[in-house]
Amino acid sequence: MTDPADFPVRVRPEIASLPPYKQGKQAGMDAYKLSSNENPFDPLPGVIEAVQAATSLNRYPDASAARLRARLAERFGVTSDGVHIGAGSVSILAQLVQATAGPGDEIVYAWRSFEAYPWLAVVAGATAVHVPLTPDARHDLTAMAAAITDRTRAIIVCTPNNPTGPIVTQAEFDDFVAQVPSDVLVILDEAYNEFVTDPAAVSGVQVLDDGHPNVVVLRTFSKAYGLAGLRIGYAVGHTRILDAARTTSIPLSVTLQAEEAALASLDAEDELLERVRAIAARRDALADALREAGWAVPQAQGNFVWLPAGDDTMAFAEAFDAAGLIVRPFAGDGIRISVGEHESVDKVLRIAASVVKDLPEGHAGRRIA
Ligand SMILES: Cc1ncc(COP(=O)(O)O)c(C=O)c1O
Repeated sequence: MTDPADFPVRVRPEIASLPPYKQGKQAGMDAYKLSSNENPFDPLPGVIEAVQAATSLNRYPDASAARLRARLAERFGVTSDGVHIGAGSVSILAQLVQATAGPGDEIVYAWRSFEAYPWLAVVAGATAVHVPLTPDARHDLTAMAAAITDRTRAIIVCTPNNPTGPIVTQAEFDDFVAQVPSDVLVILDEAYNEFVTDPAAVSGVQVLDDGHPNVVVLRTFSKAYGLAGLRIGYAVGHTRILDAARTTSIPLSVTLQAEEAALASLDAEDELLERVRAIAARRDALADALREAGWAVPQAQGNFVWLPAGDDTMAFAEAFDAAGLIVRPFAGDGIRISVGEHESVDKVLRIAASVVKDLPEGHAGRRIA
């Protein structure tokens, strides 16, 4: 590596000290990749055909993905301008943060949550304000409301929370949003919404119906719809906010192939949501069995479960790794395990049950019997 002292180009110091994005480990041939909350099912034939039919690779795509916007607008009962499509919902997160916050401004979110949030704030030059989760790994919305200052420009609420799993309830969200000043953007990140089975959970659809102009709902085709590799997600909200996101976006980054795949997925939604129900049932069975084995698994409403392994996180992750299970460790905190192939579940349980015994009595990761 080049010694920074020998390299004259001036990089913003906060960027130079920020490690580049590190992806969850890739799996070898006979390992299960349970580190990126991907959908374990292969794409549907109709979706593959739609992508294969989009052969005009020599042409730029429609910059606004108008057909998909119109389709989603109909679903959410908004105009097409109230929908914005991005190359993955993470790109829309970046646009919204850039559009609202700069140096001296604050972005508030729960922590631990989606690992991209701190990075987005730093890249925008803004200050990240972390509000610790409650002991049961949920958003502490009272503390988040208390963290708002006159410098706060955006607040991100992630439900179900990645990586810990619990939802924010509709009542909690309504109460929270009533306390947020109307000039502060609230981003409701619902990347895992389709996996939610708790009827008390906040619903972006309800929030939009209630008419909160400062709330933007973010969804993705990466998880439930299984299109992570094509990079396509969307936001629904007030046109003025979405126009600001469109202004900061890199034009033409949503490909025709991604748009076609998303449209074909909406056509095949019944079949895809059947798979989502299967994953949610597998998740519930896995979480119950992990609790039975002694783990204090918090509410799991995404397509993943959380093991609060604390200081043992990295050692336990190695035990999973050695058994051919690639999981996502967050050093000193815990391990997120995606709900993957049916065949992976017993293996996960075997390793999880064998390592939980190493946690001392009274450890936060051990379930109180
Ligand atoms: C909470 C949350 N939001 C957003 C994203 C981004 O998803 P994508 O960019 O694939 O749409 C993820 C991906 O893991 C996530 O966990």
